[in-house]
Amino acid sequence: MVSKTNTLFVGKVYERFDELHSTNDWAAELIAKSKPAEGTVVRADTQTAGRGQFGSRWMSPPGQNLLLSVILYPHWLAVQDQFYLSMAVALALHDTISRPACTVKWPNDVYLGDKKTAGILIQNTLSGASIQTSVVGIGLNVNQITFDPALPNPTSLAAFTGATFGLDVVMVQLFECLEQRYLQLKSGRLAEIKSDYEAILYRRNERSRFVRTADGCLFDGTILGVAPSGHLRVDVANEGVSFFDLKEIRLG
Ligand code: BTN
Repeated sequence: MVSKTNTLFVGKVYERFDELHSTNDWAAELIAKSKPAEGTVVRADTQTAGRGQFGSRWMSPPGQNLLLSVILYPHWLAVQDQFYLSMAVALALHDTISRPACTVKWPNDVYLGDKKTAGILIQNTLSGASIQTSVVGIGLNVNQITFDPALPNPTSLAAFTGATFGLDVVMVQLFECLEQRYLQLKSGRLAEIKSDYEAILYRRNERSRFVRTADGCLFDGTILGVAPSGHLRVDVANEGVSFFDLKEIRLG
């Protein structure tokens, strides 16, 4: 258990490891073995097989960053609304970082300026029309200063601000912000979550260049917001408003 968590359930059960293959995998194994309390957190100082989005790896040197997974049971959330959980988690990271330069690059990369400081990997299991279990994996770069040059645009709280942060202090703040956003979602304030998320979208209302994944074609457009399904709403130059899913486009 972490001391000084000002939460009702997030982080009340807390398992900390020097090293794990992946906190998401460990959390999924815990769920399969027993039914851990909602809000159980699994944290590792380093991971040997950290998972990123789209099957990528999440690399992080030992002890510099936050690598953790939170176990949630949002059975009250319909499958078609699962993007709201993703928005709520991105907002919680934004609330934790609490800087004007912090934005969320669709769908859920947390940015400081033009660089990525946190990634989110949510793995849900479904039961009928609802979500049964959710493992919310968060990699938040906190004190890392040097990065693998192969990474496109990484940063950390320390690299961006020049200050060093207490990992436990940031983590406890994150637990509080996560719980608040999760309870906002649970109380059905979905429209509020979507408008809060849209307000912090990276490059919203700015003309941007996009790449169409299928053929590598470039086009210009302006991000307007998102659909509840998670599709990005873009005003495509000379064409009008279109919705795109994650596999269709990326920002160029
Ligand atoms: C991304 O690619 O942006 C998502 C990265 C998510 C990384 C975190 S680190 C803690 C948790 N455990 C994992 O294996 N992945 C997530």
